[in-house]
Formats: sequence, C-alpha cells, structure tokens
Amino acid sequence: MNPVELNTGVAHSARIYDHLLGGKDNFAADRDAATHITKGWPHLAISMRANRSYMARQARFIAAELGIRQFLDIGAGLPTSPNLHEVVQSVAPESRVVYVDNDPIVLSHARALLTSSPQGQTAYLDANLRDPQAIISSAQFLETFDLSRPVALSLIAILQFVVDEAEAYEIIDRLMAPLPSGSVLAISTVTADSAPEEVNAGVAAYVAKGIDEIARDRAAVRKLFRGFELIDPGVVLVHRWRPDEAARALPDEHVHMYGGVARKL
Ligand SMILES: C[S@@+](CC[C@H](N)C(=O)[O-])C[C@H]1O[C@@H](n2cnc3c(N)ncnc32)[C@H](O)[C@@H]1O
Repeated sequence: MNPVELNTGVAHSARIYDHLLGGKDNFAADRDAATHITKGWPHLAISMRANRSYMARQARFIAAELGIRQFLDIGAGLPTSPNLHEVVQSVAPESRVVYVDNDPIVLSHARALLTSSPQGQTAYLDANLRDPQAIISSAQFLETFDLSRPVALSLIAILQFVVDEAEAYEIIDRLMAPLPSGSVLAISTVTADSAPEEVNAGVAAYVAKGIDEIARDRAAVRKLFRGFELIDPGVVLVHRWRPDEAARALPDEHVHMYGGVARKL
C-alpha cells in the first residue's frame, strides 16, 4: 500500500467518529475535538451507535428483501463490526461491495474492509464524494459492478458534511444516473429535530473545529430523495427504521439522525 499523507494535528470526522465509537484509530486532536463537541452534544455517541445499527439493518433489508447484490458505500468509515460487506455477504455471499472514503486513516485500514467471502468481492476507492465523476469512472466501480443489475448506493452519515443543498442534490443525481432502475439510495444524515438545542450546539462545535456540518429537518432530508420512491417507513429517526429490540428501546431525544431508503423507478 502507498504511504498516505496524514495530518494528525487536525481533527477529522472519521477519527472523531472512531473515538466516539470506542475505536483506537484516532489522535490527540481528534480526541480533543470529540471532548469539545460532546460537551454540548452529550448524546452524540448514542446517536452514532444508533446510526451504525441502522446501517446494518438497512443493508440486511436491501440484500434480503430487495435481493440487491451490489453495494456502493461512500463515507465507509473505519472498519467497525459488522462492516457492510459482512452484513450483506451473510445474506448472500456473492455480494459485491465498493467502499469509498477520502480519509487517509481509513485508507490505511482498508485491508480490514477487503476481507470478502470467496464468492463475493470487495474493493476500496480513495475518492471524494464531492467529485462523483471520479467515483463512477473509477476502475473499482466499473470492474466490480454489473451495471445491468441494481446497485445500492449508501450515503450513511456523510451528507451532513455537504452543507449546500444544490450540491447534495447534484451529487446524488450524478451517482444514481449510471445505476439501472431497481437500484436503491440509502441515506442517513444529522438532524436537530429530536434535540434542537443539543444538536445545534454540537454542530456549531464541529464548525468551530473546521469541519463544516449541517443539521437538516425532516422535509430537507425527504427532499434528498426527490425523484426516487421512498420505501416504508419513509424518512424517520434511524432507530425507528425497521427497528430491532435494542433500537426500539432508545428515546427519540438521544437519536439525531434521519434515515431512509428509496428505489429508482
Ligand atoms: C461519520 S463517518 C460515517 C461512517 C459510516 N458510514 C457509518 O455510518 O458508520 C463519515 C465518513 O465519511 C467520510 N467522509 C467525509 N467527507 C467525505 C468526502 N467528501 N468524501 C469521501 N468521504 C468522506 C469520513 O472520512 C468518514 O469516514
């Protein structure tokens, strides 16, 4: 693997997230930022765990109920158990996954994401969500996927970093354009609806640390799916999306992400 350029003196969202989930792939600047952010946003770690559990539930649903076998996961994050390919390959071992992230630390751990079942395939692409053309013209995308069959695009806990709505719409449209009908779009992103004071303070703390972030209300998250057909239950707080028992036990005020899955007709 090529040496990666890593500025460990500046906080990065992937490593803040890793620290809050109890991981070890983070540095002092990330831990300081996490301490600063969680002062005003004390339930952030609970919300992130609820999001991670949503990621697994929606991926399992897409594989088991919709029969999709190809997954493009942008903003994959550091390896955390279970990873998306483990979830979908436990349903269908032949599933193929392309992980995309632009954090060098995630790149340096990509090997842990590339442990495919023998029947399936995983690939890793170091690319920026904000350059969708680079993603859909990459060898990883073109060689891993059969574009005559549906693909699930996962944008899980990443669109809060794209603060401009027009840019967010364009990114989604560009990424969904080459995917055939029957493909799906799965999103989760930050909201302040369930805890306005706490989340707004937390988002301001991210911005103060140099990480642009936006909290969207339900209507704004629904609009991210414009042009696609939302699958039941639509856009809801992530712990309310086809919940398991643990998710059902969480109070709304502790969960600050909306999630939804939609189909391209
Ligand atoms: C909060 S984490 C979410 C990780 C995972 N999707 C999950 O939900 O558990 C956000 C991830 O998006 C990545 N990310 C942020 N902005 C990005 C961009 N413009 N292009 C690619 N990845 C990005 C970060 O490096 C980080 O790994």
